[in-house]
Amino acid sequence: MTEAPSTSAHERTLEVPVEQRPRHIAVIMDGNGRWAQRQGLPRIEGHRRGVESVRRATEECSRLDIGQLTLYCLSSENWKRPAEELDFLMHLLEQYMIEERSRIMNNNIRVDVIGRREGIPASAQRELDKTIEMSRANRGTRLCLAINYGGRGELLDAVRSLAADVKAGALEPDAIDESLIDERLYTAGMADPDLLIRTAGEMRISNFLLWQISYAEIWITERCWPEFREPDLHQAIRDFAARERRFGGLTEAPTDPSDLSL
Ligand code: IPE
Ligand code: IPE
Ligand code: MG
Repeated sequence: MTEAPSTSAHERTLEVPVEQRPRHIAVIMDGNGRWAQRQGLPRIEGHRRGVESVRRATEECSRLDIGQLTLYCLSSENWKRPAEELDFLMHLLEQYMIEERSRIMNNNIRVDVIGRREGIPASAQRELDKTIEMSRANRGTRLCLAINYGGRGELLDAVRSLAADVKAGALEPDAIDESLIDERLYTAGMADPDLLIRTAGEMRISNFLLWQISYAEIWITERCWPEFREPDLHQAIRDFAARERRFGGLTEAPTDPSDLSL
């Protein structure tokens, strides 16, 4: 990176001060297959092009000082897909880990993975672990890849681990609170997403971060993931900044206390 963040062309067009930007953005990267089919290409070409969108979104989040970017790469339900498509996705994952390593290090990005390891080929896991290890001390944007991830499976794993502690006499049921559940999730130690982006127009969560998105702002675009670019990310951030987050409370205290007497 040769330019300082504040002078990049993208930064100039965002016009949202850092403190109004989401600290954590989560993305359901959808529509790779549809994009490819629209171009008359096989579905896997959509996945291949999607890697470029991952690269650009990651670098842009890093430039914009976004604390964390969590990307839904493979759901626990995606194993229903044909073996050839899954093999290609695993190949892409491994390639990405190898090819992006220097860029990740140059951008001070810290890589994490959430999800279950089962089903991920050993060679891809090795490359993943290498990148995770190498980037552990980086303090820039945290890039969290959700691979073989399912929100229900994550909650199930958390419940099992708590139940085991209760059975062993190490934990009282009454001592289980929200923060303890947080600690048992794959995302332990991470802040909840502030902004959830979904590409390709579907109005659903598809088993992503069920616990963590309780108060995330949802932003959906018709654009498919392979065509998602910096201006789309900026628009999502601008829209986020213009939203009013109430967390169940009220915007402002009533100006006239007698309003409350009704
Ligand atoms: C998202 O694109 C990538 C993964 C789920 C792995 P899709 O492959 O779901 O593309 P569509 O939704 O079929 O267009
Ligand atoms: C969600 O997309 C999973 C990922 C983006 C990895 P899907 O394409 O699997 O979601 P559904 O099946 O349309 O709900
Ligand atoms: Mg899809």
